[in-house]
Amino acid sequence: MTTSLDTEWPALARRLARDLEQSGKLSDPAWRAAVCAVPRHELVPDYFQQDRTGTWTRSDTTTDEGRRQWLEKIYSNSVLITALRQDTRPPRVLSSSTQPGLMTRMLQALDVREGHRVLEIGTGTGYNAALLCHRLGSAGVYSVDVEPGLISTARKRLRHLGFTPTLVTCDGSAGLPVHAPFDRIIATCAVPAIPWTWVEQVPVGGAVLTDLKIAPNAGSLVRVTRTGLNRAEGRFDSTYAAFMGLRSQPGEPDRSPAWAHRDATSIERHMTTVDPQTPWNSMIVWFLAAFDIGPDISIGFAGSTDTDAARPPDVSLTTPDGSWARISMGITDSGGHEVAQGGPRRLWQIIESAHDLWNQLDRPGWDRFGLTVTPSEQTVWLDQPDSPRRWPIAQ
Ligand SMILES: C[S@@+](CC[C@H](N)C(=O)[O-])C[C@H]1O[C@@H](n2cnc3c(N)ncnc32)[C@H](O)[C@@H]1O
Repeated sequence: MTTSLDTEWPALARRLARDLEQSGKLSDPAWRAAVCAVPRHELVPDYFQQDRTGTWTRSDTTTDEGRRQWLEKIYSNSVLITALRQDTRPPRVLSSSTQPGLMTRMLQALDVREGHRVLEIGTGTGYNAALLCHRLGSAGVYSVDVEPGLISTARKRLRHLGFTPTLVTCDGSAGLPVHAPFDRIIATCAVPAIPWTWVEQVPVGGAVLTDLKIAPNAGSLVRVTRTGLNRAEGRFDSTYAAFMGLRSQPGEPDRSPAWAHRDATSIERHMTTVDPQTPWNSMIVWFLAAFDIGPDISIGFAGSTDTDAARPPDVSLTTPDGSWARISMGITDSGGHEVAQGGPRRLWQIIESAHDLWNQLDRPGWDRFGLTVTPSEQTVWLDQPDSPRRWPIAQ
């Protein structure tokens, strides 16, 4: 039976493709054809939304208005939360359908060719797998997710659309050795370093594209090409992007929160002119700082973020060794922000130094950074692999 949805969605998918083209996120005609041909609503029949109080509700398609809003959202450049663990406090996001514009940017950067075999880490809804199947044929597409429920649902929905990629439930950090080699590996989740086993599963000339996050928020999309038996190298994408982290177990948080006892001795106070919201607003400064701070850091707000609260909140940073910093978001008469910090390391000073370094380096964007991966070490560099500006990634 044909429903009104069957006649409505193709125009909406074409509109989405046009919007992505106009905003510079889609230019390859083959990926444009895939966006127009894949019914995202079949793979994302519902999603969760969070209100200001933090409560999550499922999209409601039982009313005409609810259905209209759902369809608009599906065929817009929106990330949609599609799997939640609701038995934890707060509920934990387990999966989402990535913004289509981020997907098309990544798929274009992947540079696939006819006949390529591609492994995706992070099947989620299967929407990206469907785009890949449209482009390469199902036989060339492999996709894994750590959540068994997501894999079985995606398999069913993809089959209904005529796509039959190889889908496997497993921890994607090991790749999919039984089906290797792949020409390309694309991860739609973030890793603290590129697993060497991914590089081993592409031939020389093959590429791995992933979100590299050496600490929360610290890093972005990077594409490395295997250049030899023991080496892969490449550059970061010019635009910042962020994915949820790789989990080792189904249902787990993606990164264990840094345990921290705030060391209250020897509190030091000073004023700063560096933006307190650097971890969210100045991604490269934060990235540079993260090499010194290390992977385990909790970032958040202390105090009320309500606009009518008596005083503005503090940005709060804590690391497991007891180091902490609180930076007021309020501006004093002298135009700065009050900083209080304690513990063995002065966290805010590390960020101020990273800010100075970024200025000294002429404020580089992501595309001036690159990554070299070998079986034993990974190094981020500025401009060239042999640059004197290099930062090893702790593994
Ligand atoms: C942003 S979602 C992927 C979106 C997906 N590509 C789509 O089109 O809907 C990230 C996915 O990574 C999965 N994931 C997390 N850790 C993983 C792991 N170790 N191995 C494989 N998948 C993992 C999550 O379960 C989640 O479904």
